[in-house]
Amino acid sequence: MEDLKSIIRNIPDFPKKGILFKDITTLLGDAKSFQRMVDLLSHRYVGQKIDKVVGVEARGFIIGAALAYKLGAGIVLVRKPGKLPSTTFKKTYDLEYGTDTLEIHTDAFNKGDRVLIADDLLATGGTMAAVVDMINSMDVELVECCFMAELEFLEGAKKLPEGKVFSLLKF
Ligand code: PRP
Repeated sequence: MEDLKSIIRNIPDFPKKGILFKDITTLLGDAKSFQRMVDLLSHRYVGQKIDKVVGVEARGFIIGAALAYKLGAGIVLVRKPGKLPSTTFKKTYDLEYGTDTLEIHTDAFNKGDRVLIADDLLATGGTMAAVVDMINSMDVELVECCFMAELEFLEGAKKLPEGKVFSLLKF
């Protein structure tokens, strides 16, 4: 995993002074690394009958769509406000640099769907906790929250359901 970790670029003072930003575009842009990352993540869920993968806007769409394709699942979009055209559930949450709101279509799932949530990064956990809240209010089974990378020192996993968090790369 160290080679995959090392290809993620550190950008100092982005988006504000004092933050060391993990820029995943360098990993995504490297064909072998992108393929390996998707293969390693999807391998964990092969045979687990995942009906839907939920991708979280925006970078989570990249990971989520790739996983959904590999697993033969549908992809469900969790979007920032005002983007989804039909009836939605909404949840306001704290993120690393402020607050935001996320939305999901109320009819995104079938009853009893087995759902995997995917995002690129687990930082404070505010984003994923909001998604889990929305999904828990719907009639589905949460399989796991999976991340390409996790900033462990921020302890975001503590905000998420115990035993249902997986991160491929840990910083
Ligand atoms: C980033 C990242 C996660 C979230 C993690 O998204 O993609 O979704 O922050 O932070 P947290 O664990 O502290 O909530 P961002 O809101 O920056 O949006 P983007 O994917 O559209 O860049």
